Amino acid sequence: MKILENGGVFILETENTHYIMAVDSEGVLNHLHWGGKCPEEDYFSTYKPWERNSNHSARDLSKTEFIPYGGTVYRPVCFMATYPDGCREAVLTYKDFNISEDGDNFLLEIILEDKPYNLDVTLCYKLRENTDIIERFVKVNNNSYSLVVLNKISSGEFNLPSLRPYTSTNFNGAWAAEFRMESTVIKNGVLSYDSRKGGSNHTVNPVFILSQNADEKQGDVFFGALAWTGNFKTEISRDFAGRTRAVIGINDFDFSYNLHPGEEFITPSVFCGYAKGFSSMSNQMNSFATEYILPERYRKEPLPVLYNSWEATWFNVSSEGQQKLAELAADIGCELFVMDDGWFGQRKDDHAGLGDWYVNKKKFPEGLKPLIDKVKALGMRFGLWFEPEMVNPDSDLFRAHPEWAYHYKTRKASLLRNQLVLNLTREDVKEYVFKVMDDMLSEYDISYIKWDMNRAYSETGAENLENPQELWYRHVKAVYEIADRLKKKHADLQIECCASGGGRVDFGSLSHFDMVWTSDNTDPLDRLEIQHGFSLLYPIKCMRAWVTDTNRGSRPNDWDFRFNVTMQGSLSIGGNLLKYSEEELEIHRKYIAMYKEIRNTVQFGSFYRLANFKEDSIYATEYVDENQSVLFLCRGANTFFNSKFYHINLDGLDKDSQYKFEYEGKEAVFSGAYLMNVGLDFDMGGTLQSKIIVLKKA
Ligand code: GLA
Repeated sequence: MKILENGGVFILETENTHYIMAVDSEGVLNHLHWGGKCPEEDYFSTYKPWERNSNHSARDLSKTEFIPYGGTVYRPVCFMATYPDGCREAVLTYKDFNISEDGDNFLLEIILEDKPYNLDVTLCYKLRENTDIIERFVKVNNNSYSLVVLNKISSGEFNLPSLRPYTSTNFNGAWAAEFRMESTVIKNGVLSYDSRKGGSNHTVNPVFILSQNADEKQGDVFFGALAWTGNFKTEISRDFAGRTRAVIGINDFDFSYNLHPGEEFITPSVFCGYAKGFSSMSNQMNSFATEYILPERYRKEPLPVLYNSWEATWFNVSSEGQQKLAELAADIGCELFVMDDGWFGQRKDDHAGLGDWYVNKKKFPEGLKPLIDKVKALGMRFGLWFEPEMVNPDSDLFRAHPEWAYHYKTRKASLLRNQLVLNLTREDVKEYVFKVMDDMLSEYDISYIKWDMNRAYSETGAENLENPQELWYRHVKAVYEIADRLKKKHADLQIECCASGGGRVDFGSLSHFDMVWTSDNTDPLDRLEIQHGFSLLYPIKCMRAWVTDTNRGSRPNDWDFRFNVTMQGSLSIGGNLLKYSEEELEIHRKYIAMYKEIRNTVQFGSFYRLANFKEDSIYATEYVDENQSVLFLCRGANTFFNSKFYHINLDGLDKDSQYKFEYEGKEAVFSGAYLMNVGLDFDMGGTLQSKIIVLKKA
């Protein structure tokens, strides 16, 4: 890992990649290379801009590192500003650079300036030990005496090396159908994915994945993940000459930001990398997240097996009922008991109560203490559900402060799930939210919060702001701030980030919350597709998965299949244990005990997608660490009855080691080389059959 500067050429070197930029004769920072290593470092200083003609300017065609709107540039830009004299074009030229060391990290700052307006735009690149992932972000400093309005400020522009079209992979999801992968070949024009809902949303995700001739094991894959839990925009374009570019950052839709004299604006980071094959991409991001990004306190610890009450009791929680569930949860091996929605205010269903974060006296006459004491006595930790950013019109909070929700006086507020969004850009609202949560955490022994957010924003009037278009940005910052403050004050607190399931899965939430609720869809077959998409860029450890008895798809699937699917992430239990037979509870005991034996491998090991339902009639994943490998096999529903043998080649093993495991009812020993190169046939019986095979390294 190193950063070099050589006469205006900047070379970022990670273990396996080079990222190279150079300042040209006009002072513009150009992009020269991103991808595999190239030893001829001197070559790059010879770079020259392209010729011009009357319709295609050199600048519009060139590979720039951070192009602003201005001059003869007609493609998606990274930066737009309005200056005090009315000028709406920016010219960013090279001013200076700085390389600093911060522990094992290197930071390169390249300062560009818009000279007449005394505005600095600093492109920041952070390199860390043992990873090819580069963190990029941008700082804007207004060094003038006048207000500058930022109209667009992306986190980065990315240039792809090949002139042939790239395939863009993102998602086409929905509530309860998150992470449904879709790929599109970008031959021309601009493909834009964005969120305007306030959160990073269920539909598309704030990432770009651009590949060529790629599968799990080979091909070029360039990717970037934005650390932002709000409105974002990704624009991927390809011009007539075949240059593919991606611009990613905060969405400029209905956004602007007043940068006053002396102020600084810092964009969210984008974590970007280059990989040979999708598997390498996922593993790079998986280990990067667990090494550097997740909140530090629990980063290296495996997540506890949790029980969540939602699908067992819905809103109908009571002290006695939850205690009964807790007894069984502890008995089957759960380590954490989370009471979901329904415990507060006048909450009977989703029509009332949000905002009133005091314990419902009818349901909990003596407060939460008896329940929490019971949970603790059973040897589990206790967690509680909040939806802190929301308010029901039928609540004490809304009756007292109707002006606390985003609103326009002339517009009727649209309800979604019977609720409104609180204006967290107001200091008093932010303080209220912090205080009610802090009070609960201070009064009770609560070590886990499930932080939910169950609607998209609308009527986003925020009269308190000088520039109301800042609300999209300021709201997200307020969420991060409250979560960070709570964690700072309550050092052992873990927070799960939920937004009607997986509506807030991004590297921003994962920098402040310890894990995410992946999806409200707990149907195991659907889940496999959701988990497949999730695993592309997001850490396995953070993928909460519940075994439940809710069968929304009316599809037959047995406990083995359900456990198989959920044990591929962070195992949790979410069914109504009170209805289960002793035999069913015993199955839970068996699998939870087994999960505890393999969870280090699952949550921290290397991860391989061996087969999936889009391409195969079996779904197979494998997790590997230095001691063992765990193979999960799930046969799909739509397969021919006679195709019961599936040939699987394992991955990631040590070729020279021997692996011992149960194979077709007998103990077997095979070398890593055999298992990877030759592979084995697995008898998967009938449809929807599953197997978990633990291969112990001898
Ligand atoms: C959302 C969450 C669920 C549950 C409910 C409670 O839908 O995703 O897990 O917490 O809210 O109302």
